[in-house]
Amino acid sequence: MDKLIINGRKKLHGEVEISGAKNATLPIMAATLLAKGKSILRNVPHLNDIKMMAHLLRVIGARVNFHDNVMEIDTMHAGYFEAPYELVNKMRASIYVMGPLLARFGQAKVSFPGGCAIGTRPVDLHLKAMESLNSKIEIKHGYIHANCSKLEGGKFSFDKVSVGATANMLMASALAIGETNIYNAAVEPEIGSLIDFLNLMGARIEGKDTSHLRITGVPELEPADMEMMPDRIEAGTFLIAGAITKSEITVSNCIPEHIQALIDKLEDAGCLFEIQGDCIKLFPPTTIKPVNIVTQPYPDFPTDLQAQFLTLMTLADGQCLVEDTIFPDRFMHVAELNRLNANISMRGNIATINGVEYLSSTELMATDLRASAALVLAGLAAQGKTTISRIYHIDRGYEKIEQKLSGLGADIKRISG
Ligand code: UD1
Repeated sequence: MDKLIINGRKKLHGEVEISGAKNATLPIMAATLLAKGKSILRNVPHLNDIKMMAHLLRVIGARVNFHDNVMEIDTMHAGYFEAPYELVNKMRASIYVMGPLLARFGQAKVSFPGGCAIGTRPVDLHLKAMESLNSKIEIKHGYIHANCSKLEGGKFSFDKVSVGATANMLMASALAIGETNIYNAAVEPEIGSLIDFLNLMGARIEGKDTSHLRITGVPELEPADMEMMPDRIEAGTFLIAGAITKSEITVSNCIPEHIQALIDKLEDAGCLFEIQGDCIKLFPPTTIKPVNIVTQPYPDFPTDLQAQFLTLMTLADGQCLVEDTIFPDRFMHVAELNRLNANISMRGNIATINGVEYLSSTELMATDLRASAALVLAGLAAQGKTTISRIYHIDRGYEKIEQKLSGLGADIKRISG
């Protein structure tokens, strides 16, 4: 297993370019199954989760070519309806194939996802959403069996905002008979991007960026060609890298509006920004001020940046609280950060952070994707050499992380295991 070795406390400088968004690309890859033929996705990041989804599409019978950030997916001969345990177990986003398979073939068999490092993560909303479109759901031998003669438009109001279940319902209803109304839909930019792709395929979806989506089902969809949007979580992670190392850096090829909630909190912490087009220049604070955050659905503070922001706060001048309302158990990074001399205590889903003057390096273990990014940030700020093992987690969601950080002047290298 590879490890990252970071010699901390190096000032960063210069510009880093953001890659395509993993969480926008994954549902769009699944959506290609809705049509017969070759779709082309551009600006696709080389990440393990993306490769895993490509593998799942191949299992389903699609042909997938992936070179130079361009992915061609030919679904002409897709015809197998199963997302097997070995894949769903490694990547929960595999459940995204359920809606498209059901819509195109009238059946889907998807391994029931288990728990994961950030909590229990139920899929009840995905299932209820599919049932509201006239499909029958049964759970047998650890698998979700979904069947329908033909999906029919329906009404569904999510009692909790879910990005994944909104995406699944959008994809399924695009080919359903009649009109579907989704209430309390997720408004995350990745959902907007999926709507753009589906509409390019010929779907009729109205209400983008609002919590009420209206879908008029069409009999068939065509393959499409689209550029993937930049990854807002990667952009946010690099901004925090600038803040925690007190460095002036520029994050380019991003959509600043997508991370406004983070920018506001970094301003409260003492950072200044110059925003021009798709570039954000960060001017770091001399002293990091303590700032409370509560994670909420978009446009509020994203849970996917909680661990990274919490890490910044370990060096703040005072006390603050970090609460995660989306994934209440998503605090595996806390114990590791405390091993670096941080002072964090937990009560339920709220972390109390008492800022310390310095973090001191040690050996760390990555536990999940965003927690790994948090440990890298801690390593960049810590005195001495930090070693992070199990970094396959970070390779799921950050393209070329060590090259990008080295390009900014960090002393970071990967040791192959
Ligand atoms: C997606 C993102 C993930 C991000 C999360 C929240 C992808 C591949 N992953 O995950 O990085 O952290 O959105 O922004 O895009 N819930 C239920 N029942 C369900 C589904 C969800 O109770 O059937 C709950 C979850 O436990 C959680 C909340 O709803 O508390 C939001 O989860 P959801 O938006 O569905 O997250 P994902 O789509 O899995």
